[in-house]
Amino acid sequence: MSPVNTKAWKKLENSFNYAANLQMRELFEKDQSRFDTFSIRFENILFDFSKNIITKEILALLVELAEETDLDSAIESMFRGEKINWTEKRAVLHTALRAPADTRISLDNNDIIPVIRKELDKMSDFVEKLHEGQWLGFSGMTITDIVNIGIGGSHLGPEMVCNALRPYSKPGLNMHFVSNVDGNAIHETLKQLNPETTLFIIASKSFTTQETITNAMTAREWFLRKEETNLDDISKHFIALSTNTDAVVEFGIDPANMFEFWDWVGGRYSLWSAIGMSIALYVGMDNFLALLSGANKMDIHFREAPFDRNIPVILGLLGIWYTNFFGADSHAVIPYDHYLAKLPDYIQQLDMESNGKTIDREGNRVNYSTGPVIWGAAGTNAQHSFFQLIHQGSRLIPADFLAPAIPHNHIGNHHNVFLSNFFAQTEALMKGKTQAEAMNELKSKGLDGKELEELLAHKIFEGNKPSNSIMYKKLCPETLGMLISMYEHKVFVQGHIWNINSFDQWGVELGKILARNILPELENENEVTSHDSSTNGLINFYKESK
Ligand code: F6P
Repeated sequence: MSPVNTKAWKKLENSFNYAANLQMRELFEKDQSRFDTFSIRFENILFDFSKNIITKEILALLVELAEETDLDSAIESMFRGEKINWTEKRAVLHTALRAPADTRISLDNNDIIPVIRKELDKMSDFVEKLHEGQWLGFSGMTITDIVNIGIGGSHLGPEMVCNALRPYSKPGLNMHFVSNVDGNAIHETLKQLNPETTLFIIASKSFTTQETITNAMTAREWFLRKEETNLDDISKHFIALSTNTDAVVEFGIDPANMFEFWDWVGGRYSLWSAIGMSIALYVGMDNFLALLSGANKMDIHFREAPFDRNIPVILGLLGIWYTNFFGADSHAVIPYDHYLAKLPDYIQQLDMESNGKTIDREGNRVNYSTGPVIWGAAGTNAQHSFFQLIHQGSRLIPADFLAPAIPHNHIGNHHNVFLSNFFAQTEALMKGKTQAEAMNELKSKGLDGKELEELLAHKIFEGNKPSNSIMYKKLCPETLGMLISMYEHKVFVQGHIWNINSFDQWGVELGKILARNILPELENENEVTSHDSSTNGLINFYKESK
């Protein structure tokens, strides 16, 4: 159902005229319990959404929108394994990957939990062997370096989580990630490594992705270049994470060294599957399992909590409020947590590949906005790059701020300095600075007359810029699992309400096909004339120059 045809949407449109004039500053002044009303504590997470341009009535209308579009049944359909990815005729069951062992989830009349557990056990055996020094390189040396070769969902999740959980990493193991097919990337990684002590993880759901296979071939050639290595040694240094056994075997990886997952796990939802092998190796299987269990806690919350107390639902609804009613076209993710510096990159794929769609369930082009541009960077660095625009630019940019109460490293008063900025920024965004306040400030600095007049407008902050604050006790594996699952479900809520398929990604195909056609044209001396004049001109410039 198109959301714009719901009664709730019409009511929200009507309320928007009034809402557009709301000032959060006044709402806070009038209501001392605003924080209590608009915040939720879940496990060791505090979700504060009180600094949004909403009232209880608006939240109720947003919840009405979720109800009217039957979000409840959609959530159940996903968890029960219905084929909700209708363009690929697939179920969407990343939640099953983190379900407890005694759950039963049936897909095409087969319980999938035993196969998931079997693969987790296989991962666990491998991790243990490597950590215990039973899995050695071809010359009997311990593995010290692990290279994950993969791209998109086969890279961003594992890399983000490995970075986030660095304080839990096993001593003596170095993780490397190669994703880009730019030869400089693999060159810079390989030049640090010794083939005798390196394990390559080839991570690809399809095992046909051009970038990953090209990088994997280069790694294999590099490995075999060493005089003492031969083809048999590949089995000690290359493992595969994939759904495509034939392609893995064809590449030359022993199926015994393949860790499987399934077509009902979307690439950008796959870090919980065998694609998480780099995580399990880096931080140990117990921590990997704790990550899964955290995600499962959030799954249960998402499935069971009433919508007006449901963190992913509220996050999703607030996003719709800003995208479709305020016309916001982007959303910033700003972790005040060094270990979460890669979170914005990860959320970018999760959200933009999922909801960057315009064709609805009925096959029509939507006449409303869908997924926003997701971007961001870690604070406080972000304050010194793009915060100017969020505070005083012409666009409305809703933002999520994330921060841990307890740091992993207690260094002097760093954490107080750090978090004072975290608290200050959302306060400043909400409150702004009025003309009167700016005037007083300038006067107190001794300015008056023309000088004051000229500067005054520049010193005003409109404020009323919305943000969510997500605080957690400490970034442990379980909490990280909850946070990632929270974002996955937020994306689900929005995709459902926008009536689009969040689980396919046809939009990445065209460029891939064109690149395949262009590649042979780059490998001869002939002038290229088969494209538009711009593309021909660019290709010919490259051919002349190389
Ligand atoms: O970018 C398109 C995409 O298909 C993503 O959805 C996926 O995460 C990525 O490519 C990598 O795919 P694969 O794991 O099959 O190599």
